[in-house]
Amino acid sequence: MIQNTHPASYTLTRPDDWHIHLRDGTALATVVPHTAAQFARAIVMPNLRPPVTTASEAMSYKARIKAAVPAGMSFEPLMTLYLTDNMSPDEILRAKDAGVVALKLYPAGATTNSDAGVTDIRKTYKTLEAMQRAGLLLLVHGEVTSPEIDLFDREAVFIDQQLIPLRKDFPELKIVMEHITTREASLYVASETSHLGATITAQHLLYNRNAIFTGGVRPHYYCLPVLKRETHRLALMDAATSGNPRFFLGTDSAPHAAHLKEHAVGCAGCYTAHAAMELYAAAFDSVGKMDKLEGFASFFGADFYGLPRNTDTITLKRETWTTPESFPFGDALLKPLAGGETLAWQMI
Ligand code: DOR
Ligand code: ZN
Repeated sequence: MIQNTHPASYTLTRPDDWHIHLRDGTALATVVPHTAAQFARAIVMPNLRPPVTTASEAMSYKARIKAAVPAGMSFEPLMTLYLTDNMSPDEILRAKDAGVVALKLYPAGATTNSDAGVTDIRKTYKTLEAMQRAGLLLLVHGEVTSPEIDLFDREAVFIDQQLIPLRKDFPELKIVMEHITTREASLYVASETSHLGATITAQHLLYNRNAIFTGGVRPHYYCLPVLKRETHRLALMDAATSGNPRFFLGTDSAPHAAHLKEHAVGCAGCYTAHAAMELYAAAFDSVGKMDKLEGFASFFGADFYGLPRNTDTITLKRETWTTPESFPFGDALLKPLAGGETLAWQMI
């Protein structure tokens, strides 16, 4: 049968978002409905201030998220803990019992709210052993933090210096390299065994680093790891649309108040949850690979995490619409990526 590579509509199994920042407090009322409208489940990042480091904090955070899900929508937050140098292996057992699914490794200082992150991976080895035994996943922000390493090289250096040794020491630990941004990362993940996966954001599929500097500094395109040059974007597109089940969807949607992004020291993070599937559809459609979107968005992440696939569906229609320029965000405004722009696909 000949595949229609430019369909007018596309119905797929309801997707999940394997990496998102939902924040807390008044922010939840804005962002949770956006994610719940598209995704059945999402892996919720623990980089609150202070970070979520215990099973009991994760459970109360989960309850606050669930309270922000609009009536009539069903959405399951999948909770994570923030790995620290001194997290006790006992906490891993409590986390497992409470239904926490993963721990997030932020190298200290790598990104937003990462000051409490890991200073030396070897300090966490007892905890990682407990995770490997309990079957909890390790999610990594894969960038070294040394100021001598060029910002654009930090992911590739992390693979060589940290990830390759870590995978040797913990061959049975499932690791997700989050929000990969380089050709090196996509080749490394594709070359490894079944215990390594990677999430890819919509912005890293749609844009290269020129987007941050077109006609002036454009802070809403700034996230970490930062957008890279075009060769890397093309490698990520190849990986995402390849049908390789170790690449799956993770938006890394990361809301910040607009005035803190449009600032002398602007915060890192792109907000994409309001139109996540529409943005991924734009990327897949641009190379005539809409037929590969369902595996990437709805199957491969669940399979990697060992969770059941969803059974209901969503439909995307090829119909232009203009995205909102901003959303209320507590007392501030939230400006999404591609705000006020016309998109070709819309979820109906
Ligand atoms: O751009 C980013 N924003 N990258 C991260 O790793 C963290 C995130 C955030 O929390 O704002
Ligand atoms: Zn993130």
